[in-house]
Parts: sequence; C-alpha cells; structure tokens
Amino acid sequence: MGALKLHERKELQVAELTVADTRITLPIFYGTEGEKALDISKLRSETGFVTLDPAYMNTASCTSEITYLDGENGILRYRGYPIEQVAEKACFLEVSYLLLHGELPTAVQFEAFRSELRDHATISPFCQNMIRSFPTHAHPMGALAAITAALSAENAAYLAQDLPQSQRQEVTAQLMQQLKSVAAYFYRHMNGLTFVESNPRLDYCEDFLTMLFGACPTAEAVRALNVLLILHADHEQNCSTSTVRLVGSSKANPYATISAGISALWGPLHGGANQAVIEMLEAIRKEGGGVKKFIEKAKSKKDAFVLMGFGHRVYKNFDPRAVIIKKACDDVLEKLHVHDPLLDIAKALEAEALQDSYFIERKLYPNVDFYSGIIYKALGIPVTMFTVLFALGRLPGWLAQWQEMLTASGMKIGRPRQIYVGSGKRDWK
Ligand code: ACO
Repeated sequence: MGALKLHERKELQVAELTVADTRITLPIFYGTEGEKALDISKLRSETGFVTLDPAYMNTASCTSEITYLDGENGILRYRGYPIEQVAEKACFLEVSYLLLHGELPTAVQFEAFRSELRDHATISPFCQNMIRSFPTHAHPMGALAAITAALSAENAAYLAQDLPQSQRQEVTAQLMQQLKSVAAYFYRHMNGLTFVESNPRLDYCEDFLTMLFGACPTAEAVRALNVLLILHADHEQNCSTSTVRLVGSSKANPYATISAGISALWGPLHGGANQAVIEMLEAIRKEGGGVKKFIEKAKSKKDAFVLMGFGHRVYKNFDPRAVIIKKACDDVLEKLHVHDPLLDIAKALEAEALQDSYFIERKLYPNVDFYSGIIYKALGIPVTMFTVLFALGRLPGWLAQWQEMLTASGMKIGRPRQIYVGSGKRDWK
C-alpha cells in the first residue's frame, strides 16, 4: 500500500513515496533525452520494501553514455549519431572506435586504432589447435564462446583484477582482432579447408570475407557486411550486454566476460533469432501453402510457435535497424543477382502480420533479425554462422559497455534481490 507523489519540476527532482506509513523522498534522475527514473537505492533500507520487476521490464540497471534508444519512436543513436547516418556513412571500425572512445577518430587516431588491432593479427598454435579439436559439426557459437574463454590461458597479463586503462585498451584490440579470425578459422575448419591468415591492412569486412572464402570479396559483399555489423554494434542494455556487465562486475577477466555475452546472445529469443528466422522461412517454403497458416500458429496460445524475427522488448513502433536492413536486403540481392524465394516469403509474412490485429495490438514489428539472415545467405554464409556474425558486430558494444561499467563511479558487483516464495522452515527428518 503506498502513494507516490511526483514533483516533476526539474528543480525539485524528487518524488515522495509513502509506503506502510513511512514517507520517503526518492531522487528523480533525468537522462539527456528527458528519460526519467526514480532512484530507489535507499528504498529497502528506509522502508523494508524492495521492488519486484521480473525480466527487468521497468528497471534501468545503469546510466550510460553509449547508446540512446527510444522504442516508442523507433530512434537509435550511437554516442548521439542517428543509426541511419552511421549506417550510411561509416565503416565498422570507425563505429567501433566511436563506441569505445566516445568520439569519432581523427585520421591519426584511426590509424593508431588499426595499428593496435594489427598487433594481434596472429592466431597462436594453441588457439589453432583448439579450433581443430572441435568436431566439424559443432555449432560455431559454442566454439566461439569456448575459445574466447580459453584465450585467458595464454594471456595471464590481462587476468588481473583491476586492469589499468592501457591494458583494457590492449585486450579490447586483441578481442576485436582475434575473434574475427577465430570465427573465420572455425568456418574453414567446419568445411575442411585450410586457414587463411588475417591481413589486417585490409578493411575489417574485406579481411573477414577473404579469410572466410579464401578469395577477394566483391565491393558489394564488403559493403553489405559493413552495414550489418554497424547495425549490430550496440543496443544498450539488451540480454547479452546486461550479461557482459553483470559478469564483468564480479571483476571476471575480459575473456570470461565476453564469452558470457556470446553465450547469452546465442539464445533464439536474442541473437540466435537470425538463424531461427531462416529455419522458419525454410519450413514455410517446404510446407507450401503460403504464410497464413504460420500467422495463425503464431497467434495461437496453444502453440509454442512464435514468428521469429518479430517483436521486441523495447521497440513498440518499428525497429530502425530492420528498416535499413530490409532496404539493404533488396539492394544486395539485386546487385548480386540473387533471387531468394525466402525473401518473398519474408515479405509476405511481414505484410500479413502487419495488417493482423493480433500483431497490431501487441505492437509487433520485424526486428533486426528478420531480414539479416537473407543477406548473410546471399553472401554465401551458412546459417549456423549467422549469430557468430552478430557477435562480431556486437563485440565493440560489449567492450565499450564493459569498460564503462568498470570505470563508473561507485561501481559495485551486480546482485539483484528476490522474493522467496518457497517452503517455510521445516526440520530434516
Ligand atoms: N510472435 C507471436 N507473438 C508474439 C511474438 C512473436 N514473435 N512476440 C511477442 N508476442 C506476443 C506474446 O505472446 C505476448 O502476447 P500476450 O500479450 O497475448 O501474452 C505479447 O506479444 C507480448 O510479448 P512478450 O513476450 O511479453 O514480449 P517480450 O518483450 O517479453 O519479448 C521478444 C520480446 C523475446 C523479442 C519476443 O517478441 C519474441 O520472442 N520474438 C521472437 C524472437 C526474436 O525475434 N527475437 C529477437 C529479438 S531482437 C534481438 O534480441 C537481437
């Protein structure tokens, strides 16, 4: 039982809350874009109450300067720059620098950043052997998570509890450079092909595609991958980023921390959706008979099926990344002269869903994963590698958030509370 009286005038910046006859003052915290939050950190000590918010539907776990997202209006900005401009004008490494350092690099800073990455171009025999030790049918996301954690074995210098800024920067460059190679090497291993070494003098995407396919990629393929990686580069406190922050808050080393983020991303409700979308579209194609049946399945509460690539916790209007990807998808397929029947099915599914009251009422729209897989497929990338590509794209975001979390004033280990609803005390017989 309580009453909340809000003084929204900025100069007051407090709310008064009365809970069970105790009246307390809660500071109001305003974000740059007018977002407002009640600071409840003293709620329990002053009233005995905690807040209950399963799945964090209404909880801001931190303040952050990295990414701004307005889900009601379909706005996404990296360090203030609208995603539409970033996707059109930048290259992935520039965006990585922006996320990590807060500003776009000068030419000199960009060259220094690339040089930091170049220092880590070689993949050690230990790491190569580890890749070779996996069965070729293993899912590459499991391999990427395991190998990322295993990189700790030969980098003792970065395992210290409180890494100085210079070492955080070094390990960031190492992870950015080496996970790209690990991903490409693992693809080669899966296909029984010899490894192709990184040539870090190339652009990030050109280098990755060359390592993957052993041949110089087309400019179109490089451009398409660049846009996809940029669109995935950060997305504030999503499931995998929150995992990175939580694991990192225990002062776990950067390899363990990023490995945890990769594992969280693998889930089909998160980054794993890009693989699940293609599998769903394939199932619709094989079954024939159009998309209506699948729309009905998705609506049915008796059926566990949901439209993969649809819906989002935060976007309730449209996902601006999906808009860019849908257009890129049309462009790429046209330029590569690919006709993919899955694109026709995806468009039919979207059109059908967007005029259906179930999806309209629940504000369900295509998300970033709905069309991305069709582009990856057109580039010749196999379905099980899709979420790995997402991980490479998200890596600078994870690393930026990890660094911001570690250096935040008053940084503490993350540790939610719970409300116990189990058995009362009983004696062991
Ligand atoms: N298909 C059918 N119904 C859906 C879908 C969907 N894709 N998504 C949500 N709904 C329904 C829910 O059943 C629920 O209905 P109800 O109110 O009748 O119970 C309502 O819409 C609200 O959905 P929630 O599950 O409460 O939304 P939440 O924010 O918890 O979940 C999520 C978001 C996980 C993305 C969900 O929409 C989903 O499962 N989508 C499919 C998987 C997917 O594409 N994930 C990628 C997300 S983007 C990313 O992480 C990179």
